[in-house]
Amino acid sequence: MATIRLYRETDLEEVRRICVRTANSGQDSTPMTEMPDLVPDIFLVPYTVHDPDLCFVVEEDGRAVGYIVGCADTVSFATWFRDEWAPQAGRKYPQPIESPKTWDEMWVYCLHFNSYPRMVMPGIEGYPSHLHIDLAPEYHRMGLGRELMLTYLDALKAAGVPGVHACVSAKNPGGLKYYEGMGFTPIDVPDPAPVVWLGRSTDTRDLTEPKVAAGTTD
Ligand SMILES: CC(C)(COP(=O)(O)OP(=O)(O)OC[C@H]1O[C@@H](n2cnc3c(N)ncnc32)[C@H](O)[C@@H]1OP(=O)(O)O)[C@@H](O)C(=O)NCCC(=O)NCCS
Repeated sequence: MATIRLYRETDLEEVRRICVRTANSGQDSTPMTEMPDLVPDIFLVPYTVHDPDLCFVVEEDGRAVGYIVGCADTVSFATWFRDEWAPQAGRKYPQPIESPKTWDEMWVYCLHFNSYPRMVMPGIEGYPSHLHIDLAPEYHRMGLGRELMLTYLDALKAAGVPGVHACVSAKNPGGLKYYEGMGFTPIDVPDPAPVVWLGRSTDTRDLTEPKVAAGTTD
């Protein structure tokens, strides 16, 4: 049976693999990269270092089959990412080039230069947290994404964080439907492309309380 628990360092290799298998707008990015650590070193591993209390996995038969990771405060996270994480993690990769063309060149460039301005967007003030969620493809549409999100929102609420946002590729219809189903609504940010910015409150009553049918009386 699948269970949700906090991330542990021993999950690292499994969650890195899941990240790569879902990084191309929800699809497998394995054929696109010669550096399989690169995308996880941007969108997964730094959260487990900076905000380990907000990183959860779904475990089945002793291994992680999905995860949700995030940060309580995007401005603090982005500052740390720019000043500490990127210089250290960047040593593993070639120097960024000015006009990246390949998948790997693009993400090396993002790791070094693009993360802070793309993370700290005007419009996210009411949604200080942000997150990334990915499940191994064979575990989609089983309700595990819902359970992971509820776990994450409860942890944020307990930490006093009022809202959370996420960025989803406009080319990921399943991801967009998921966030819509989880009560996220669009956030107005300048120059959002190529992603859609979505946010919601950490109050989960809309997701957990039974809906009363309109027109019923007692
Ligand atoms: C997106 C993802 C995390 C969703 O997790 P999941 O376990 O498949 O989703 P759930 O089964 O918990 O669905 C929760 C709700 O989301 C909505 N939903 C999820 N996937 C959907 C889809 N493909 N189409 C329509 N609605 C969807 C539904 O409202 C669903 O509720 P319901 O089952 O009662 O109808 C998972 O599919 C995934 O890892 N995808 C690849 C990576 C990715 O796209 N990550 C997110 C974008 S950054």
